[in-house]
Amino acid sequence: MTAEAPRARKVYVEAFGCQMNVLDGELALSRLASKGWERTEDAEAAELILFNTCSVRDQSEHRVWSRLGALRERKRTDPSLLIGVMGCMAQREAESILRRMPHVDIVCGTRRFPVMDALVERARAEGQVLAVETDGYVDVRRDVRIRPQRHRAFVSVMRGCDHKCSYCIVPRTRGPQIDRSLEDVAEEVRRLADDGVREVTLLGQNINTYGRTLDAGPDGRRPTLATLIRAVDRVPGIERIRFLTSNPMDLREDLLEAMGELPRACGYLHFPAQSGSDAVLRRMRRGYTRDRYLELCARARELCPGIELATDLIVGFPGETEEEYLATRTLVEQVGFKQIYVFKYSPRPGTAASDLADDVPEAEKKRRNNDLLDLQDEIALRRNSAFAGRRIEVLVDGPSEKDASRLAGLEDGHRTVIFEGPAELSGRFVQVDVERATAPALYGRLVAGSER
Ligand code: 5AD
Ligand code: SF4
Repeated sequence: MTAEAPRARKVYVEAFGCQMNVLDGELALSRLASKGWERTEDAEAAELILFNTCSVRDQSEHRVWSRLGALRERKRTDPSLLIGVMGCMAQREAESILRRMPHVDIVCGTRRFPVMDALVERARAEGQVLAVETDGYVDVRRDVRIRPQRHRAFVSVMRGCDHKCSYCIVPRTRGPQIDRSLEDVAEEVRRLADDGVREVTLLGQNINTYGRTLDAGPDGRRPTLATLIRAVDRVPGIERIRFLTSNPMDLREDLLEAMGELPRACGYLHFPAQSGSDAVLRRMRRGYTRDRYLELCARARELCPGIELATDLIVGFPGETEEEYLATRTLVEQVGFKQIYVFKYSPRPGTAASDLADDVPEAEKKRRNNDLLDLQDEIALRRNSAFAGRRIEVLVDGPSEKDASRLAGLEDGHRTVIFEGPAELSGRFVQVDVERATAPALYGRLVAGSER
């Protein structure tokens, strides 16, 4: 009898929602890879399917419910298939996922994914596994070689959030803030740089409060995001530093000073305003006013000339009147963002705002949503057009998704730049002469021989 070749252990990972989820999926994968699992982009070929889920809006959860439902039949015909759900929805809906979707094998919350390999073994041996404890430190150390892009990487610097913005489910799904030590983060960045990474994005749900849960260092001071960025800036090989997401409530001047001073800190700030109306900001419990937000934008531009600002906005928050909505609209006009991300309010069970009537009709939410996007299109086109005729530096990602005969990359302010060039330039810095602009991108010509 000939022995059958062992079946390759293939895992399919799909992330929904924010960058933090994308990274957590990679971290779980890194753990699985150390036990011989291999990533596949083809769910049909996978022995393990992992969905890394988001709870921020109802719609994000709906999508996962229907994807899970669609796997029921496959699991019936192939009982060796393992199905895992991780992330915010797994944390929030834990038991109900196992009840409504009995073909799911693993439900892993937001703080247990670093032991995904052990959970998979347990599921194989014992059947359904539920791992949603939120206590304790999340060990996010990883095999830095496992990442989707060679030249760019995300690094988690903190977990959770201690705020209670009234619409937000995150403090419930991701738990209280826990920071990773500055030395740990710097060490991971060093290992990434040694493996070819040139741009890092530091990730935290409320990254401006980084350090709050750490002990003071030898100088008697607690690390802050500014000191962290300064430490990352000293890592040889790293040429660009970004970070997400900045809460206006906690933005400190020392951060803007560091960004202004350090050429490697990108001139880009993702800075969610959520609303331009003081009354709505109060109901959201955001802890700042419109004027304070505008003041911070002005200060950022003063200390970091050329900085690009991007923001998140929620439309149709409970009780949002036309006048309150228009205050958001004028904020968008006044600031001149590089980009805005607009969300229609979605009540999340257990949040303070879910006690308020969700009284802005869906059609009206949609109208406000589209109105803001149309306005921003004009603003982005105007701002991008100012780049025509300029020479800019681009970190090349690779062939453009829309047109594989061209290359796409990002400039310092997080704009997409598209131009013709050979695929071998992926991962290199090049100079591009900008010729024209659209609202979402800049188009230009590669400067021959400029790669480094
Ligand atoms: N409804 C709509 N949008 C929301 N966001 C967070 N919670 C909600 C909600 N309940 C948006 C915020 C946040 C982004 C990640 O998602 O704008 O910044
Ligand atoms: Fe949610 Fe507010 Fe925390 Fe951001 S700062 S994760 S919006 S509670």
